[in-house]
Amino acid sequence: MTTVAPSAGAGDERAQTSNASATARAYPNIALVKYWGKRDERLMLPAAGSLSLTLDVFPTETTVTVDPGADRDRFELDGAPASEEQTGRVTRFLDLVRERAGTTARAVVRSTNAAPTGAGLASSASGFAALAVSAAAAYRLDADRLALSRLARRGSGSAARSIVPGVAVWHAGEDDGSSFAEPVDAPPLSMVIVTIDRAMKAVSSREAMRRTALTSPFHAAWISDTAQALEAMLVACRDGDFTRIGRITETNALRMHAVIQSADPPIQYLAPTSVAAFDEVRRLRAEGLEAYATADAGPNVVALARPADAEAVADALAHLGETTIAGPGPGAALVEPAGGTA
Ligand code: ADP
Ligand code: DP6
Ligand code: CO
Repeated sequence: MTTVAPSAGAGDERAQTSNASATARAYPNIALVKYWGKRDERLMLPAAGSLSLTLDVFPTETTVTVDPGADRDRFELDGAPASEEQTGRVTRFLDLVRERAGTTARAVVRSTNAAPTGAGLASSASGFAALAVSAAAAYRLDADRLALSRLARRGSGSAARSIVPGVAVWHAGEDDGSSFAEPVDAPPLSMVIVTIDRAMKAVSSREAMRRTALTSPFHAAWISDTAQALEAMLVACRDGDFTRIGRITETNALRMHAVIQSADPPIQYLAPTSVAAFDEVRRLRAEGLEAYATADAGPNVVALARPADAEAVADALAHLGETTIAGPGPGAALVEPAGGTA
């Protein structure tokens, strides 16, 4: 099917004929128990569940405009045409949306990330969560939050969690229908993001995760340990036990970096300054300021703190990089496009 004539009563073809457009905003999330390994790459099912905090800083905003006359999708990221690889990833995602919408109409996607792209500050999470919500609306899919989480997962696993506000657990699940994120009650948490290097990582999370699973002799141990850490983390959240939440968070992060370092060829996401940030956080704890460090697949470090301590923690880490204090943020949602018509 290449062209579609407007036909009376064909409600599901409105998207193809009306240049429908929608804009969504989504925030990055930082995992306290990390997702690092897939058991099904096509369906994007993780090898273990994970838990994160969706932030209230560094939003991604994405506008999807259906363009029935176009022969391919166009993807503009931060005001410039995205790379072929990045555009291909968006097209593969939109193909899933189109399949469900019963259309082949292409789209123009414009997105801006407030966080650096591909630097371990979860741009793929906010990016694909914003794309899932905007594309679902532009293509007129009927999707509730659970369905949007499952859909976002197909673009980037961590994006399943950015559909959800605040603390989210992503259930590993057993199939497409059971692998989604949902909210979890937790005590008040703040995060201090230390931006150490904004450069795009040399090895994407996707590629590094695959390499780790294929080559690290520790991979199986990492997955079973993470499943246990998630169980312990859910109990700690329920108990409102900040100390236990923090300990599990820091240990799980260091174990993830250890398993990544043990891949062949090895991958090292932490820079010397990142290690200095982990050391500084440990020193703060020894002095009685309770914070715990984590880092995703990149050199930027995030300290977990009680809200009342966040400013003191940020001050103590400011010599290592630009600090940003974040709290729990909203789930991905539609917004009015700036100055445009929906
Ligand atoms: P990060 O640590 O930033 O999540 P990843 O390696 O997981 O890094 O993913 C980076 C990739 O995610 C980008 O190269 C691009 O393909 C995709 N991405 C990032 N931001 C967006 C966005 N706003 N819309 C669509 N895709 C995005
Ligand atoms: C270290 O979700 O970016 O941030 O699913 O292949 O797109 P893909 O990978 P991605 O991996 C995130 C890895 C992590 C840990 C986490 O967010 O749980
Ligand atoms: Co990512």
